[in-house]
Amino acid sequence: MTQTVLRGRVLTFHAEPNDGQDNNAYSYIEDGAVLIRDGLIQKTGSFCDVAAMAPDAPVIDHRPHLLMAGFIDTHLHFPQVQVIASWGSQLLDWLNTYTFPEETRFADADHSAIMAEKFFDQLIAHGTTTAVAFCSVHKASVSAFFQEATKRKLRMLGGKVMMDRNAPAGLLDTPQTGYDDSKELIATWHGTGRSSYVITPRFAITSTPEQMEMAQALVQEHSDCHVQTHLSENRDEIAYTLELYPQARDYLDVYQSYGLLGPKTLLGHSIHLESREVDALVETGAHPVFCPTSNLFLGSGLFDNAGLRGRGITNGIATDVGAGTSYSMLQTLNEGYKVLQMQRQSLHPLQAFHWATRGNACVLGMEDRIGTLDPGTEADIVVLNARSTEAMALRMDRASTLSEELFVLQMMGDDRAIEEVYVNGTASKTAPATRARKVRVPEFS
Ligand code: GUN
Ligand code: ZN
Repeated sequence: MTQTVLRGRVLTFHAEPNDGQDNNAYSYIEDGAVLIRDGLIQKTGSFCDVAAMAPDAPVIDHRPHLLMAGFIDTHLHFPQVQVIASWGSQLLDWLNTYTFPEETRFADADHSAIMAEKFFDQLIAHGTTTAVAFCSVHKASVSAFFQEATKRKLRMLGGKVMMDRNAPAGLLDTPQTGYDDSKELIATWHGTGRSSYVITPRFAITSTPEQMEMAQALVQEHSDCHVQTHLSENRDEIAYTLELYPQARDYLDVYQSYGLLGPKTLLGHSIHLESREVDALVETGAHPVFCPTSNLFLGSGLFDNAGLRGRGITNGIATDVGAGTSYSMLQTLNEGYKVLQMQRQSLHPLQAFHWATRGNACVLGMEDRIGTLDPGTEADIVVLNARSTEAMALRMDRASTLSEELFVLQMMGDDRAIEEVYVNGTASKTAPATRARKVRVPEFS
């Protein structure tokens, strides 16, 4: 048995905050601690109580920093680590010019393995401990993704994109090989360690109706797998989809008519929705995923968070790297705040931090395992420093509440604000050797 006590200021959510005054939605403990035993959280509470429970356990003192559940990114693309920040076009041009050519490189197992290492280095550096990833069409990319995740004991979800048209030859499967390869990868990886396979028809434009039928068969045969795709990101994409699927009532109907919608379905973007599509989201329990940095970068549009939530729909939030411009869920919350501001919608920092942790865990149906510091859950934990840059420290000198601190992290934080990351109980972010910063214990009113 291995035990460790992490000491620091502790914040964990029990429910989604209704507003900035909803103190019942979370616990905040000024001199708090988390006891980790064999990769699981054994107890979260005051340092006194936790230390009394394990008097012999080593204590890692993270004061004055903030301990929270690791961030969860519900939509990003593993083979796009070298596509991020590619200039100048909207979705379909961007895919054809940069993204598809880049993804052909992942046919090569060695390239995939090198990129998997870099990819998970970035996720951990930015405090993300669980992600839902699109791999490339090639089995090699999925194997590299899960092998590296398993080596690092990360809880990861991902799948091979199924795509059999409208892309370069090196990126195409067929309805049959797409099915067979997905099936083989599910058998190898789904439920292995902390890995989960996600059935991944890339989007309607790159799949024939025959491939959609095969995706439907996979979903029926593996109802415990999540499903991910893209929906209504861009107006040209929607028009082209409706040309390719003339029988469909609307874009979402393509996926709905092949039985791909349910509470385990994640629909990246979901920006330009018809009212029937919103009704169908309500009926099926599928989850839109808001990707603010990507939506701004590609000029895709403004996600209607309040409108969807008003219908009882639960939305995820995600980076969508490489159309997304940062691996940081803090930066994602920053841009998300601004996208919602443009629509006179609000996002309080308490709601934002809930969203990136427990909220996204709920979207995945995994809140019993990740997203909080509750006893019995897996010890994926970030240590946050709201004074990680001089500009942040200056602002923090005038902060007097937890919400203000969280908002500084949300608007100004990035990987420098992530002091440490625990993955399944193990410290996994190698701190830069020389970092002398002034640390001050906040005194909240
Ligand atoms: N739609 C289909 N594929 C992609 C992709 O790789 N990125 C984004 N942003 N949208 C997509
Ligand atoms: Zn995407």
